[in-house]
This record gives sequence, structure tokens and C-alpha cells, in this order.
Amino acid sequence: MNNTIYVDAAMNDHQRRNGLYDGQLYVYTPRPSSLAFTEFAREMITAGFQCADPTLAQYDMPVEDFVKIFAPMKPAFIHHPETKKLIQAMVSDLGCDMDNTYLDVPRLRAVTSDSYLTSGVGYAHHLHRDTWYSAPMCQINWWLPIFPMSSESSMAFHPKYWDQAVENGSADFNYYEWNKTSRANAAQHIKADTRPQPKSLEPMELDPQVRIVTEPGGSILFSAAQMHSTVPNTSGRTRFSIDFRTVNLSDLRSGKAAPNVDSRPIGTSLRDFLRGTDLTPIPDDVIALYDNAPVEEGVLVYRPD
Ligand SMILES: [Fe+2]
Repeated sequence: MNNTIYVDAAMNDHQRRNGLYDGQLYVYTPRPSSLAFTEFAREMITAGFQCADPTLAQYDMPVEDFVKIFAPMKPAFIHHPETKKLIQAMVSDLGCDMDNTYLDVPRLRAVTSDSYLTSGVGYAHHLHRDTWYSAPMCQINWWLPIFPMSSESSMAFHPKYWDQAVENGSADFNYYEWNKTSRANAAQHIKADTRPQPKSLEPMELDPQVRIVTEPGGSILFSAAQMHSTVPNTSGRTRFSIDFRTVNLSDLRSGKAAPNVDSRPIGTSLRDFLRGTDLTPIPDDVIALYDNAPVEEGVLVYRPD
């Protein structure tokens, strides 16, 4: 039964993963290692927008200029050597065995207020499971706000879908095709986002929903199988956040994971993950357990220039 939000849970990573695979949510209040991470992002964003409060920058410029400033900030953050150190320190501090934990690169996101920018680099996600997008069923998602946020600028979980299948387009979603055609083009999508996404094919009920509001540097952990969405931001401020994903090698080998009720994507995102200690990729024999498609015309791993 997915019915619990654990706050600063006194449990080890093994116990926490079991809870996450049962659909529970985990929240950690800000701590030095997570604050170091969000502070680094805050400084980068503040420098980029050249203003004291980037959450209000959207009111000072046309949306095209906002995209021009924010779009290059995303890869700059992802590939900054400091980012790698900070994420490793934080994940380790939160109890993960870094020898056994693999991480993908953290993403920087902006969700602007009142539909100023709704596509491309500011895309607001409809109800989805990350596992529709070729994430493994044992993937764990981490999410941290960088500035003060509110319920009106949060993300939402839709817990009743945890064990309820919905008709969806994941069977037509090919991760290798997505890597080839869609990811590099995000910044070009300013007014409309036409990239093919594995959406639900039936009417979805937004309620009941759960929103978690934390201080900057707080973290929310959830299973990639959770149905979640971006709340339409009506807070009056842009919400900037960091998110990234982890997988545990023992769980990948043993198959321990969240239950799969309706995810059938083609390909796997596992090649995006690197080991916490030495940044080596996941062993090929493990990837083979999850790779259900030939790469054909696509790209196994997206590498931006
Ligand atoms: Fe997601």
C-alpha cells in the first residue's frame, strides 16, 4: 500500500529502496550536502540572468530572451566538474553505497509562472511515469528546489495510479530514436512542443494528488514508476529545480523493482548511468537484461556537443 511520506527517515538505503519500490515517498530536509548542490545551481542561475532574483526574471524580458539565457545554462550545469562532485557527495551523504549506485547527469529545470514558457526547455510535464520513457523499473528519481517554492509551483504525485494501469503510448516510444531526434531540439520549442511523448491515452484524474513543498535544498525521492506531473505554475515566480536519477546494481541484477503495471517502452536508458565512485558505465551483461530492442537507426546514448 503506497500511503506514506517519510521525512528524514532513519533507515538505510536498502530499506529505503524497498519502500520506494512499494510506492512510498521520501523527503529530506535541507542538509549541508544538498544545500551545497542547490547553492551552486542558484549562483549559476543568478549569474546567468544577471539579477538578484531570477524567479522574477521572466517579467523583465521576452520569452525568446529567457530561453536564450536559460538554454545554455542547462548543459553548462550538467557537465560542470563541480556538479559531479556535489551530486556524489550528496547521494553518498544520503546513505547510498556509491560502489553499487549509478547516477545519470542531473538536470536543471525552469517552470515559469502563468504559461510564460511552456515548451522545450521549460516543458511542463503532463501525467506520466518515467518508466514509460525507458527508465528501468528500479530507477529512483531525486528532486530538489533551488529557490523558495510553493504548492502552486510544485510537482504532483497521483498515488491511485501506482497499481492502476492506464492506456498509454509507451509501446510506441523508442528511447534510441528519442536520443537521435528529440533531445537536442528542446531549445527550439518555444511556443509549442511537438516532440513525440508517451502520454496516457485515456482521460486522467488529477485528484487525489500529493504535493510536497520543501525549502531550497530539500530533496524528494520517488520511484520512476510513480505517476507524476508538473503543477501548472500559478505562483507568480519561476520554479527552478534539479532532478536526477539513480539505480542500484544489485537490484538491477536481481530484478528487485517497482511493479510494472503498464510500461512497455522500446530500449533502455541504462547506458546513461555511471557509477558513483569511478564513473564507469553499467556492465554490458546487466544492460543486456534490460535491452529489448536493436538500436537500428537510433542512438544508444545522447551526447550533446
Ligand atoms: Fe518525470
